[in-house]
Amino acid sequence: MSRILTGIQSSGRPHLGNILGAIKPAIELSKQPGNESFLFIADLHSLTTLKDGPTRNEYIQAVAATWLAFGLDTAKNTFWRQSRVAEHTELCWYLNCFTPFPMLNNATSFKEKSDKLSDINAGLFVYPVLQAADILLYDAEIIPVGKDQRQHIEMTRDIASTFNRQYDDEVFVLPEARIDDRLMTIPGIDGQKMSKSYNNYINIFLPENELWKVIKKIKSDSTPLEEPKNPDTDITFQLYSLIASDEQTAELRSLYKGGNYGYGTAKKAFYELILTTFATERERYNYYTIDNPDALEAELQAGEEKARAVASKTIARVREKLGFS
Ligand code: ADP
Ligand code: TRP
Repeated sequence: MSRILTGIQSSGRPHLGNILGAIKPAIELSKQPGNESFLFIADLHSLTTLKDGPTRNEYIQAVAATWLAFGLDTAKNTFWRQSRVAEHTELCWYLNCFTPFPMLNNATSFKEKSDKLSDINAGLFVYPVLQAADILLYDAEIIPVGKDQRQHIEMTRDIASTFNRQYDDEVFVLPEARIDDRLMTIPGIDGQKMSKSYNNYINIFLPENELWKVIKKIKSDSTPLEEPKNPDTDITFQLYSLIASDEQTAELRSLYKGGNYGYGTAKKAFYELILTTFATERERYNYYTIDNPDALEAELQAGEEKARAVASKTIARVREKLGFS
């Protein structure tokens, strides 16, 4: 039995890149027999950069609805909001007192963020310690993350080892990062990596007319309609092939190569493929965000109970060591 844990920041609405690059693979992993997944919405982490309450709340809903729409089994796994389980912040304080200042000062993510942002707050500085608390609270063994998070998992291991050594006991389980190099980077509508920060993303849950407006904007070259087109350099083709069957992809490839097939038609095909491929997910997303937000809230509250049951045991173990019991 492997205990898998990962956090998802609520810093925007999930896009096709997040879905294909993180959400679907995490759900697949959670389905494997013998795996037990702890997946949470890192809403406290989002406070380091996002201050507006209603916006955060909307993003939390969007993130939660996406995971449920893509079929996360909340009976088998645990799915909750970080901010609702106070043990995260409590453990974060304890761990702060075991974290060397230079380690945080040398963190790549802090350097990058403080170069970019105007609001360089202390929360940004201790961000990795809150992440360590998230992981250590649940005795998590495997942490599936993107490459940029490798250093945070290393820091978690360092902090946990320091603590274990201090009390000469295995208080914390040392986690391991799982970075899947096979996962591809999904391109955005301009051909760069799809990202919230580049405003080049596709939100597959948009109403049809708005979705079409975004798809229409996918960049293409100026090859005239009659001429054959190179599918391998075209963004619409790449995006299409990510969700199409092999047969559909082969068919579109030959249309491109045959000439007299325009990019506008290809975009329409991609748009329609999104609507058919994700019909169920779009329906479920609307159910949770529009028709029945109470059902979403109930799922999250049930997850919070399950998370708290595990977290409170770890905190009791830690308090005992610290003389706070
Ligand atoms: P964004 O760049 O939009 O802010 P995040 O950094 O919040 O996205 O990423 C959340 C998760 O989604 C991470 O696991 C990341 O690896 C994955 N992800 C984000 N963008 C892409 C992409 N274009 N292709 C594949 N995976 C992605
Ligand atoms: N820092 C992670 C990110 O930006 C999100 C996160 C918060 C996380 N706590 C975590 C990831 C714990 C894995 C484990 O993607």
